[in-house]
Amino acid sequence: MTSSNPWWLLLVGILVTLSLPHSQAFRRHENKIKTAVFLSPKFVLGPGSVENRLYYNLEFPKGHIALKSFNAELIDEAGNPVPLHETYLHHWVVLRYYDLKSNENKTPNMSDFISGRNSGICQDGALDQFFGLGSETRKTATHIPDPYGIEVGNPADVPSGFEERWMFNIHAIDTRGVEDRWGCTECRCDLYNVTKDQSGNPLSPDYKGGLLCCYDRTQCRLKQGFKGIRRTLYLRYTVKWVDMDSSVVPVKIYIFDVADGWKRSANSTGINAEHSCKAEYDVESCHATGLAGDGCLDTKRISLDMPFGGYVIYGVAHQHAGGSGSALYREDGQLLCSSIPTYGKGHEAGNEAGYVVGMSTCYPQPGTVKISKGETLILESNYSSFRYHTGVMGLFYILVAEQLPKPIRT
Ligand SMILES: *[C@@H]1O[C@H](CO)[C@@H](O)[C@H](O)[C@H]1NC(C)=O
Ligand SMILES: *[C@@H]1O[C@H](CO)[C@@H](O)[C@H](O)[C@H]1NC(C)=O
Ligand SMILES: *[C@@H]1O[C@H](CO)[C@@H](O)[C@H](O)[C@H]1NC(C)=O
Ligand SMILES: *[C@@H]1O[C@H](CO)[C@@H](O)[C@H](O)[C@H]1NC(C)=O
Repeated sequence: MTSSNPWWLLLVGILVTLSLPHSQAFRRHENKIKTAVFLSPKFVLGPGSVENRLYYNLEFPKGHIALKSFNAELIDEAGNPVPLHETYLHHWVVLRYYDLKSNENKTPNMSDFISGRNSGICQDGALDQFFGLGSETRKTATHIPDPYGIEVGNPADVPSGFEERWMFNIHAIDTRGVEDRWGCTECRCDLYNVTKDQSGNPLSPDYKGGLLCCYDRTQCRLKQGFKGIRRTLYLRYTVKWVDMDSSVVPVKIYIFDVADGWKRSANSTGINAEHSCKAEYDVESCHATGLAGDGCLDTKRISLDMPFGGYVIYGVAHQHAGGSGSALYREDGQLLCSSIPTYGKGHEAGNEAGYVVGMSTCYPQPGTVKISKGETLILESNYSSFRYHTGVMGLFYILVAEQLPKPIRT
């Protein structure tokens, strides 16, 4: 604004800017949101069976873009949503990778596979995904407010001769006709009659349940005599994005795991963190631990050093049935973001009784929640310990902007 403007015009200008809702202030940007709906490769499940595979080279929006949301749900061949009490969606995750351009074959040769993982903090290929949820997928918000977005498809990030591609891991468990529906969804080894992992290594007798017992093509125990048809399913996924331009403020994805067995190690160049994200843990029953008087709540906490700084734009946790909430705190106990499960109460898809059908999310007013590089945060995950749980999860995703948008010019 030039100095020749009267003072009241300046004031009106400020008032207008302040009173515009966010979406309007960035209307230019909002108008460009594009949407595409895709189907995963189909898979076939019979009663009690498990699907847990990797699908490479998915259909995905092309070009240099900023992702705005990613939603998914399980559907049958007619396109109808499949309820969780029929097919339990343990998880789906979407990962970015780089493969040789010349690879016509959809499965990459692992010697040419480069992970295009999220920004941290797990290591060794654990929790590399960009997006991923489970049973809560239908009622969990994933949209990223304007002017933020996850930048992908930047040619400068792609090694020469390679191409950016996307893959899925979909883990679904058909629980029609099973003897113990919750036991099957928690991957209890006895119900799958599994004593060795997928590679044939014997499991420790202490390992009672979790992903090592419900790998692809395993079978959960059915009620005697139950017969049901095998059926074809798809994961239908909806991606929203905008073209990348200077109005988009990029956010980075960080995933924390309450079951991260990390340690600090110091060497001559400084302090280093080695992360080991196990993704899963068990919750002992309060009756077994003699803590039934304490409300039968299991609280798991972990302190994590943040190797980055920036402003939190979005946060969401992933918990399984039994979960009662998860949160990120500063070391002094200040709450940064919490995410609480919603349980279904009915029968239809999206409202299945007893299942986590949604997770609340947090959208702090951008600029109000700042993480400083080197700061220690505390991740907390609560579960009911009224009964024993195997293979539960306590993940927390946050999207972080390193900078805030420049003021809007009119
Ligand atoms: C994968 O790449 C390695 C190294 O280039 C090569 O030796 C091997 O034959 C390839 N495997 C397949 C299945 O193409
Ligand atoms: C469980 O596995 C064992 C060994 O693999 C096999 O002998 C047994 O028949 C299986 N039991 C059932 C009920 O499938
Ligand atoms: C110290 O740790 C850093 C971070 O992992 C590593 O890059 C570096 O090589 C290590 N230095 C020594 C002397 O071990
Ligand atoms: C977790 O449980 C503790 C009590 O053990 C409670 O103080 C805390 O608020 C709970 N956190 C969430 C996120 O529900």
